[in-house]
Amino acid sequence: MKFSAKLFYWYKKNKRDLPWRKTKDPYKIWISEVILQQTRVKQGLPYYKKFIARYPSLTELSMATENEVLQLWQGLGYYKRATNLLESAKIIVKKNNAIFPSTFGEILKIKGVGDYTASAISSICFDEKEVVVDGNVHRFISRLFGIKRDLKQKTTLFFFKKKLKSLISNLNPGDFNQALMEFGALQCLPKKPLCYSCVFNSQCIAYLKRDVSSYPQKTSKIVKKQRHLNYIVIVSNKKLIFRKRVKTDIWKNLYEFPLIEGEYSKLNEIVNKKEFNILTNKMKKPPKFLEVINVKQILTHQILKIKFWIFSSPVYIKNSLPINEIVNLPKPVVISDFINKHLKS
Ligand code: ADE
Repeated sequence: MKFSAKLFYWYKKNKRDLPWRKTKDPYKIWISEVILQQTRVKQGLPYYKKFIARYPSLTELSMATENEVLQLWQGLGYYKRATNLLESAKIIVKKNNAIFPSTFGEILKIKGVGDYTASAISSICFDEKEVVVDGNVHRFISRLFGIKRDLKQKTTLFFFKKKLKSLISNLNPGDFNQALMEFGALQCLPKKPLCYSCVFNSQCIAYLKRDVSSYPQKTSKIVKKQRHLNYIVIVSNKKLIFRKRVKTDIWKNLYEFPLIEGEYSKLNEIVNKKEFNILTNKMKKPPKFLEVINVKQILTHQILKIKFWIFSSPVYIKNSLPINEIVNLPKPVVISDFINKHLKS
């Protein structure tokens, strides 16, 4: 049996019932594929549902504010994906009459859309014979054909695309791609793949060589940078200073407490910092230190050691916002959790 016929046979029997599998609307497929980059289906699904319920079409999305979209995205990470969606929706509505582009080449021009997303949208919605290579596909195809190539290497993507283009179905390239991804996600698992029940086990090079666990080629481990973030939380009459992150860094455009970056463990180190003095020198009375809360967060490329230094101030703080307004601003989940646990009452 041909590769694609076997794959479709498996897909029909095993595919998950997912909302983006019931539409060919390129807007909805775009949203689903952007969410599913860096995010597993299970984690991304509620976000997809929320997003489509709130913005059912390009036009509705184009009228949203950045804060609204970021708030909806809160917890998914890689927030640039959300701001790119909004920016691109505005451009498509304005310059293309709200009509989503319909070819691989045109879709690739959308901000934030790379080879993977353009291939997924053009194959699923417009039956273009473009192939997708995500982590799941890379693992499955590496094992099946005994290919040891690191996906971080530029030439590897082209190598796998060429291989898959020789296998892709003429009739249904969109389902072919989704079936490949689904196969990697459900059958050809990273650890303990289900080789005994696999429809490809009689031809899988890795399986036949009893060498499944050494595929796919491991990428060199990322060395995570450690960062120490000190948030200065001065509470005065349920109001706090809360501001937008504007620099190109993690969490750009989200909101946070005043920040001092660096490794400090003692209160006097913090209160002697220039940033702390700028913040407090106009206060008639110095704020009173209450406690420090430690939280650790691990991101893909960074380890964040976060300290929330909590103070109370009997005097009004200039430019501070009431907590009930802060609650509605988009913010990193660690900050949101901290507010819910320690500040809301
Ligand atoms: N991962 C990303 N997009 C997917 C899709 N359309 N089907 C299955 N897994 C996916």
